Amino acid sequence: MHSFGYRANALVTFAVTILAVMCSLASLSDNFNVPTPTADVKVLNINWFQKQPNGNDEVSLTLNISADLSSMFTWNTKQVFVFVAAEYETAQNALNQVSLWDGIIPSKEHAKFWIHTTNKYRFIDQGSNLRGKDFNLTLHWHVMPKTGKMFADKIVMTGYRLPEEYR
Ligand SMILES: *[C@@H]1O[C@H](CO)[C@@H](O)[C@H](O)[C@H]1NC(C)=O
Ligand SMILES: *[C@@H]1O[C@H](CO)[C@@H](O)[C@H](O)[C@H]1NC(C)=O
Repeated sequence: MHSFGYRANALVTFAVTILAVMCSLASLSDNFNVPTPTADVKVLNINWFQKQPNGNDEVSLTLNISADLSSMFTWNTKQVFVFVAAEYETAQNALNQVSLWDGIIPSKEHAKFWIHTTNKYRFIDQGSNLRGKDFNLTLHWHVMPKTGKMFADKIVMTGYRLPEEYR
């Protein structure tokens, strides 16, 4: 004959096991969703482009960032963190990455958007390497699921170039 405590304990253990199984099934089924996000970033204006007194280049850009990330949202998606970065090569570093803008997409309803904005974070090069510099803009995302592992990926947009002269 089992005591009440023993049965309650068994019941809780059973419930926790079911929950764990459901969570792993949830993240497993989520893996079958193959997102097909799209993104486009246009540089609408170079607001100014200067060499600072300390010798570092800084540029201010106006961007139109548009994206459709709705395919990333499943019932298991808590939110999506996105950021736009400028990526370029210099003699010192094969990859320089400067974050220009970021945001949190809380739901599928907000996942298709465009935003007309100046760079939220400063675009500074540690040196004076930006004149005439070719660069890429990348849209990175981190999908935070309700259960299971976070995953990240990016879209690379190529073919941007900074002016030859400061202005
Ligand atoms: C930004 O891009 C979106 C999508 O391409 C477009 O509908 C919108 O008019 C653009 N906005 C500006 C200010 O250029
Ligand atoms: C831009 O991205 C392309 C494709 O990933 C890469 O081949 C190229 O080297 C990148 N350009 C710069 C300036 O980082």
